[in-house]
Amino acid sequence: MTIAYLNDQFLPLEETRVSAMDRGFLFGDGVYEVIPVYNGHAFRLEQHLERLARSLAAIELTVPFDYIRWKNLITELIQRNDGGDQSVYLQCTRGPSPIRDHAFPEKITPTIFAYSIPLYTRTLEILSKGISAITVQDTRWQRCDIKAITLLPNILMRQRAIENGAQEAILINNGYAIEGSSMNLFVIKNNIIMTPPLSQHILGGITRDLVLELAAQHNFAFQETDIPEVDLYAADEIWLTSSNREIMPVLMLNNQPVNNGQPGALWREMIQHYQHFKAQVGLTQQ
Ligand code: PDD
Repeated sequence: MTIAYLNDQFLPLEETRVSAMDRGFLFGDGVYEVIPVYNGHAFRLEQHLERLARSLAAIELTVPFDYIRWKNLITELIQRNDGGDQSVYLQCTRGPSPIRDHAFPEKITPTIFAYSIPLYTRTLEILSKGISAITVQDTRWQRCDIKAITLLPNILMRQRAIENGAQEAILINNGYAIEGSSMNLFVIKNNIIMTPPLSQHILGGITRDLVLELAAQHNFAFQETDIPEVDLYAADEIWLTSSNREIMPVLMLNNQPVNNGQPGALWREMIQHYQHFKAQVGLTQQ
């Protein structure tokens, strides 16, 4: 039985109820986080909570949670769901209001919801099978740096990928490849790892930051730089990253193989460093 947290209470997920007048339901007026848990420990919790604080500040939503209170909530949720490998979903909305009005209500009672599901941890063999992607025009708004629950464009772009036999969409914005519909983008050419710089056009991924940290630590050449769409088609390797899917090699793009259609040498090295880093969780400082 999955245990969830809703507004100060732990309860079975299927018993959670929120008002149909919740602004999350009516307007998508809220923000969220997805936090992987390895061996009972939330991975890069500080970074996830810092991003949550930035998202909350950006939508001008104040919640009565500081770092310690969030940490306690998440720790208890993980324990109540039996530790191990999990994926914690955390959502804050501007709560219910008596009438539907775009403007913020005068009195706000945020809805705080969290639950956790077992994390499907992929073996190296499964990761090596990679994923297929297609390119699509980015149809999102100008504040993609906010982890907003309003995900309709992301959903439609991902669905387009699925309908084309692929698993992810790589979004093109003004001729540049910027990220996936729910993953960050890395392109490798001549042994240089490149990823688009942080901006309001992409979500600053926690996995993205870790890949850059590991690249620096292990002396890979890397650059945060704009990536013209055409460079995708000449790439030696393409990776997509996220908390749930880690570092996935893209082996097919628009039905054509990326390079020789096999995971590249740099991916093989980086995924080893990533797995090694993960294995330290709970043993050492993250
Ligand atoms: N998605 N870019 C977008 C648009 C995302 O939605 C995500 C995460 C990422 C990767 O961020 P991180 O490495 O912090 O997971 C990049 C989550 C997993 C989701 O929506 O379920």
